Amino acid sequence: MIKVLVTGANGQMGNEFRKLAGAGQDTEFIFTDVDELNITDEEEINKFIKKNPVRFLINCAAYTAVDRAEDEPENAYLLNADAVNILGRICIKNNIQLIHYSTDFVFDGALREPYTETDIPKPLSVYGKSKHAGEIYLKKLKTGIIIRTSWLYSSFGNNFVKTILRLAREKEEIRVVNDQIGSPTWATDLAAVTLKILGQHLDTLNQLNWGLCHYSNEGECSWYDFAKEIVRLAGLKTRINPIGTSEYPAQAIRPPYSVLNKSLIKNWLGIGIPVWKESLAKCIREITNKQ
Ligand SMILES: NC(=O)c1ccc[n+]([C@@H]2O[C@H](COP(=O)([O-])OP(=O)(O)OC[C@H]3O[C@@H](n4cnc5c(N)ncnc54)[C@H](OP(=O)(O)O)[C@@H]3O)[C@@H](O)[C@H]2O)c1
Repeated sequence: MIKVLVTGANGQMGNEFRKLAGAGQDTEFIFTDVDELNITDEEEINKFIKKNPVRFLINCAAYTAVDRAEDEPENAYLLNADAVNILGRICIKNNIQLIHYSTDFVFDGALREPYTETDIPKPLSVYGKSKHAGEIYLKKLKTGIIIRTSWLYSSFGNNFVKTILRLAREKEEIRVVNDQIGSPTWATDLAAVTLKILGQHLDTLNQLNWGLCHYSNEGECSWYDFAKEIVRLAGLKTRINPIGTSEYPAQAIRPPYSVLNKSLIKNWLGIGIPVWKESLAKCIREITNKQ
């Protein structure tokens, strides 16, 4: 039986693993969030790992409030960088393969073609900088598979899809930014591909790996295109009006373009990746069925 510890398991990604748990019969998941296991507390993690020896650790815990991070940089760095360093060191000591997520917001968006793993990060926001600092820690330790993803949404927690659905039910018109381009990612697809990576590493049980790869759904769009598709799929009549970033002041600066190139992960795992509209349709159905 392969034991997998999931940290930050009450968030979007964590809930996806809860959904998938049980599907694989030789995998036992241990789900924890801050109340059971605070990833900023080295002593607590050490004790937990001693009691619960695991082979994999999927870190879904993060400080993800992009705008709030501008006012709370210490909290963002504590969780997105310092805690990742702690996890990396503990994973090495205990021979645990770490899988960690990062973000398209490590890029400044100046490039106008999909970002590859070798493109140099230039984060614009505190959130992006803190996530990049976490990546650097793991690179220095040479441990952890980092999956950079973008525009993550799911039927759990708060995200763009759920916000647009709520606003669309409350208002006749919504204004949405149309000059930031990226790729939405359904957390269910990302969880499935993470488990595939985990499967790959079962063959190298005594060896810890470091690596960086990009994963999002296929295709690209603006937040405006994304919102229009959400409303269309939900059968709502709300009008979506395109606006520029300058008309929607936010605390954090976001990259105008942050599409990720997925060639590496597709070749490595021999997978195809669902197009964003297909996955969005599935997620909207899931949300509708829950209501
Ligand atoms: N969301 C996106 O659009 C997006 C885009 C690109 C990359 N990513 C990355 O993808 C990963 C997963 O994101 P997500 O959207 O699933 O995150 P999420 O929904 O915000 O979940 C993060 C979880 O971590 C928990 N947490 C907070 N502090 C903790 C601590 N000290 N110890 C343990 N757990 C703690 C949070 O609890 P509380 O809610 O109580 O704080 C929450 O349950 C993150 O690495 C994120 O940076 C996300």
